[in-house]
Amino acid sequence: MNFGKILITGGAGFLGSQLVQKMLPLSDHIYIIDDLSTGNRSSIPKDSKITFYHDSITNEDILDEVLPKVDYIFHLACKNLVLSYNNIRDDFETNLYGGLLLLQKSQSLSPKLKRFIYTSTASVYGNATILPTPESYYNIKLPYSASKFSTEHYCHVYHHIYSLPVTILRLSNVYGPGQLISNPYCGVVAKFFDSAKHGKPMTIFGDGKQTRDFTYIDDALEAIVLAATQNKAIGQVYNVSTGKETSVIELAEEISGICGLEHVALQFGAKRDVDIVQRRCLDNNKLIDLGWKCTNDIHSGLTKTFAWLKRGET
Ligand code: UD1
Repeated sequence: MNFGKILITGGAGFLGSQLVQKMLPLSDHIYIIDDLSTGNRSSIPKDSKITFYHDSITNEDILDEVLPKVDYIFHLACKNLVLSYNNIRDDFETNLYGGLLLLQKSQSLSPKLKRFIYTSTASVYGNATILPTPESYYNIKLPYSASKFSTEHYCHVYHHIYSLPVTILRLSNVYGPGQLISNPYCGVVAKFFDSAKHGKPMTIFGDGKQTRDFTYIDDALEAIVLAATQNKAIGQVYNVSTGKETSVIELAEEISGICGLEHVALQFGAKRDVDIVQRRCLDNNKLIDLGWKCTNDIHSGLTKTFAWLKRGET
């Protein structure tokens, strides 16, 4: 499969940079737009097939230049959960206005467009009362959830009015190689591995009994590629998750075991303002029906992440 020319917004972030690496052999050219607010320039491979724009997705001149060329758009760029809480207007401008702008300009400027993939989030489920949570559920309490969910709605609008070929993926707590501790907003998995490496206690916000559905990066990337290639996925929303819960304490224990620590060193701190989710577990059957397979459970994913971290040290 060759994807031709593609745009990856947020291509310097964790998920974005791993998608760039995966798509490099599968495409003719990759355009990346990333403002490096949390992404990292060095995460992008140096390759003549990549054009990098260090700017916001709301820069219309860049969109006008790039969008006429592309066959596929992978829209990953966003302000994250914590940043969004601290600056609702910024969240609105990037996550919602930026998303709308991209949809509007793709519709008018990208005649060759075969797919617009939008990576949304399990955060649209808030503290769900149905577990595993199906795609039909929502519970919007935080600015990040509001802007990401609203952009999903605009995806549907552009699909309905203009037949724009959109697919929405709701990703759940993706972790693995490429998740960098240099990003202060990185996820708990990278933080716990870093504590283990430095012989420091892992900091648990709250009692640690809260659960998440941790998804290994390779499984998330497979979902993105699959969703981009299946006609059936046009106009659809899919959860990307393992369908299994792991508590934060269990995560700390797993990581300690994999790192070969003799005991699990923990320290407890107050919950963050954004910590409103006690349990997260997403129903992934719709994506499985599309042909996806979750290949890594938490132990396998963490073991591979540890191997990647070890390789980085040598
Ligand atoms: C994550 C994503 C968010 C995404 C959402 C749904 C990250 C950074 N954020 O939010 O973008 O929309 O999942 O996919 O990946 N915790 C600790 N100690 C720490 C760090 C975190 O105890 O040092 C706890 C948190 O309080 C929380 C859990 O671990 O209960 C997960 O936190 P985090 O990795 O930040 O992810 P989410 O908040 O779930």
